[in-house]
Amino acid sequence: MIKKRNSILCTLVFLLSSGFFSSSMAQTGASIPFFEIDTLHIPRIDVDGYGSLRVSLLLLDESTLTFSVSDAVAADQSLTPGATLDLSTTVLDIPLVKVDTNFYAVKMQLLPGDQFQITVADDATLPGQTAYQEQCQTCHGDVGLGGSGGTVITDCSNCGGQDVLSTYINNMMPLGNVANCVDECANEVADYILTVF
Ligand code: HEC
Repeated sequence: MIKKRNSILCTLVFLLSSGFFSSSMAQTGASIPFFEIDTLHIPRIDVDGYGSLRVSLLLLDESTLTFSVSDAVAADQSLTPGATLDLSTTVLDIPLVKVDTNFYAVKMQLLPGDQFQITVADDATLPGQTAYQEQCQTCHGDVGLGGSGGTVITDCSNCGGQDVLSTYINNMMPLGNVANCVDECANEVADYILTVF
């Protein structure tokens, strides 16, 4: 007897066969998977040999860390893949998941009935994160909304893009100790700010 394929795979096959991937899917925002309230949002999962999906996983059980697939549609091809699903092991590998301002490297196992269970969750650090925490956080806060210095850098005039921001950090920050974060440090901290805040 042939077992029914998992429906997440059926969705993929359907999307591929219907030519869905050729239509343009307008979607903006970062490609890093993130957990919000009770849902893990993965903007783009690549599945070997099939294509890519945008998937939302709803937390079903906090004690067993099992999730159900609440949404699966074709992914925006311009996004960087934030996860891969290996069909032979049915392991979903997510190198970086954002939960508030923390990051984790997560592996999930696909279970029967379209459920995913977290089997590995390790702390992960983004490039620039440590430098930001050590050199910037006291004045700008853990999410850029301003600490003791009160300066907001979530949507600032110098936060418009990588070039502008890294140049500003290189030449101006940290205030009073500009030389402490130049070149690679300034680049990585700029990336971190643009990714996280
Ligand atoms: C001692 C406190 C302090 C530290 C530490 C500090 N900043 Fe600042 N930062 C400020 C202040 C005050 C301003 C406003 C500067 C001004 O108006 O000249 C500012 C401005 C900025 C801006 C520009 C905001 C805008 O409106 O365009 C950015 C971006 C920024 N800081 C990033 C950083 C980064 C990244 C670090 C760490 C490498 C850092 N800052 C460390 C106090 C600090």
